[in-house]
Amino acid sequence: MATIFIDGKKLTFEEKGDTILDVARKSGIYIPTLCDHDELESYGGCRMCIVEVEGMRGFPPACTTAAKDGMQVKTSTNKLMSLKRNIMQLLLMEHPSACMVCAEQEGCNKYRPDPYKAGRVTGCTTCPNRYTCQLREVVEFLDIKDLDYLPHYKEIKVERDDPFFDRDYNLCILCARCIRVCDDVRGTSAITFAKRGHETRVDTSFGVSHIDSGCWFCGACIDVCPTGSLKPRMTKWTGAPDSIEETTCALCSVGCQTNLTIKWERVMGSEPGSLESGPNHGHMCVLGRFCIPSLVNAPDRIKNPYIKKEGNLVPVSWDEALDEVSRILKEVSPDRVGFV
Ligand code: SF4
Ligand code: SF4
Ligand code: SF4
Ligand code: FES
Repeated sequence: MATIFIDGKKLTFEEKGDTILDVARKSGIYIPTLCDHDELESYGGCRMCIVEVEGMRGFPPACTTAAKDGMQVKTSTNKLMSLKRNIMQLLLMEHPSACMVCAEQEGCNKYRPDPYKAGRVTGCTTCPNRYTCQLREVVEFLDIKDLDYLPHYKEIKVERDDPFFDRDYNLCILCARCIRVCDDVRGTSAITFAKRGHETRVDTSFGVSHIDSGCWFCGACIDVCPTGSLKPRMTKWTGAPDSIEETTCALCSVGCQTNLTIKWERVMGSEPGSLESGPNHGHMCVLGRFCIPSLVNAPDRIKNPYIKKEGNLVPVSWDEALDEVSRILKEVSPDRVGFV
């Protein structure tokens, strides 16, 4: 076992390639992150997790620096906090962040209508991500109350042409989580970074439509995005669900675990179960991810069994239907019965 000191706390760990961030998380020490995600390889892009390590030059990111025996690590010195606030302010310069530094936040959060629909996201109030925003969580941790640099709205056209989700890259912080999950986990590579410098955007190669780029509409990019850039159209404006029902997708025989989001006593959305739960481990196909609510709520959905009586299909109770199935099966020789 190796020993590391994080903010003066002595922690033991096995030297098996764990990063400083891994060790800190396992011990319940919070280090803010944005580009890091449990499912993805460390990236070291956002610099939100920088730390000070005794004997090491500069400010290495905790997510890409291997934890070593005897290391002395500091996560929140004045210098680090000031650097992180600066990095975050630069990110917020290109993000509709007025709500985050607004003095009326408390009353606004309490009394604003929900659900709230907006043509454009101009701040957290109008953002479909407002209940689960990781960017806002980090801003709150850094206690940013004012912006030193004037915000600049990127004026990127909101993409609403895809069948299942909207993409508003005005909210994008270029963390590359969507690109990495599409490439490394789904093996699709439908999206990439396009252009350079301040014009850098997430896009398809050559700007073709997502259908033409080979996108499967699996929604994995939505699930890893820490901002409101990517959102399923069906649940975009419904707000936080009233409840979540863990169940098994019934659309094919794989048996993917899904969390159905329920609002106003209706199934509104379907999100993959946790990374640990098999067989799908946090992923789904387009059918399970986007089509379950339409099927469950379809007005012409058949909700009870039918039996043909005198040439007509008649709705019956499940008891009556099962009795009928049992009666028919008893009349048939067992070697002539098969089930699918
Ligand atoms: S992505 Fe987060 S920080 Fe940005 S507007 Fe939406 S809720 Fe606010
Ligand atoms: S929906 Fe799936 S395939 Fe399409 S861009 Fe997102 S991760 Fe890639
Ligand atoms: S769309 Fe979301 S996941 Fe993709 S780079 Fe932008 S913020 Fe990150
Ligand atoms: S989380 Fe470490 S650099 Fe982004």
